[in-house]
Amino acid sequence: MAEFQLTDATGNPGAANPIIGIIMGSSSDWDIMKNAVAVLEEFGVPHEMRVVSAHRMPLDMVDYGAKAAGRGLRAIIAGAGGAAHLPGMMAALTPVPVFGVPVPSRYLRGEDSLLSIVQMPKGVPVATFAIGEAGATNAALHVIACLAMTNAGLLEKLESYRARQTEAARAMVVPPHVTL
Ligand code: RP5
Repeated sequence: MAEFQLTDATGNPGAANPIIGIIMGSSSDWDIMKNAVAVLEEFGVPHEMRVVSAHRMPLDMVDYGAKAAGRGLRAIIAGAGGAAHLPGMMAALTPVPVFGVPVPSRYLRGEDSLLSIVQMPKGVPVATFAIGEAGATNAALHVIACLAMTNAGLLEKLESYRARQTEAARAMVVPPHVTL
């Protein structure tokens, strides 16, 4: 595997500091958001994880957003459930691109989270992913794809990840009890 070096938003190489922020509205979101963390760890992308609640700690949220670019973050993956304000508010607070993950909610199965995150009014975008684990995984993969456009080593890792996925799909067999 080729070595690769990542630069943070200030152009510093070898980012020992996190370049991706993974934030969530509650520790109860962790079971979903850990899927994004697993992908970033697999690809060796430096990241940080925080609980930043839009409605329980709004001033902390403002502080995080205000400092995100200056701290070198290049993307923020934000997960939230219910009336999920966090990704949209974070996108309003920083030019750092925000990738939103709708967390399944107790009563509406995350459809409320999805609509709250995806329906951003024109002008402040949030790239919104599927509800739940697939959304968290894909948010991280999409962040990696963006970084890989300017990082050959990361691109090689991503292509290898896709190739393994293709081989796994080709190796799948239909269970014998299934008839067409
Ligand atoms: C949101 O409220 C969080 O993102 C979470 O999905 C939801 C419920 O939070 P808890 O009551 O479980 O802490 O802010």
